[in-house]
Amino acid sequence: MDRRIVIVGFMGSGKTTVAKALAARLGCGLADLDAIVSAQQNMGVPELIKERGESSFRDAETAALQVVLDRQAPRIIALGGGAWTLERNRELISKHECLTVWLDAPYDLCWQRITDHPAPRPLALDETAARDLYRERQPLYALAKIRVGVTDQMSTHDLAAKIAEAVERHAT
Ligand code: S3P
Repeated sequence: MDRRIVIVGFMGSGKTTVAKALAARLGCGLADLDAIVSAQQNMGVPELIKERGESSFRDAETAALQVVLDRQAPRIIALGGGAWTLERNRELISKHECLTVWLDAPYDLCWQRITDHPAPRPLALDETAARDLYRERQPLYALAKIRVGVTDQMSTHDLAAKIAEAVERHAT
């Protein structure tokens, strides 16, 4: 089987949208970790964080990641923004030899998308909290194998093509 691809990046970097386009382009399946956690817990991720706390959400997230990785399929896995920042999750991903792709979007673009998006992000409730988290996480996202720079000029299609090329280059 072709190597699995894990998409990481800050909230609003476009992980889910780009992962869908990439899966369509490569003709393979997609798992969205937030959607899986939400289905398993029967609750939206924002509610889960608000009602049970971040640590409980992180445990459910790691458990879901473990199941997805053990299952061997699908090929594309989109993480929630915080999943990659936990060492235990990075270790799991590395143990399963997945290729990690960081969607590196500028802070302003992420913030604009966070505020435009109807789904609340309990960990980015205000600009200062979001900016601090963004700064703190950049060095961790940079641990991904492949970095793809994102600008607001680039379409989802462009980004999926860029990732597919980078993955191809990485394989040769
Ligand atoms: C989080 C990002 C969210 C979601 C949760 C926590 C984070 O996913 O997992 O609200 O810690 O960055 P998106 O990155 O898809 O918004």
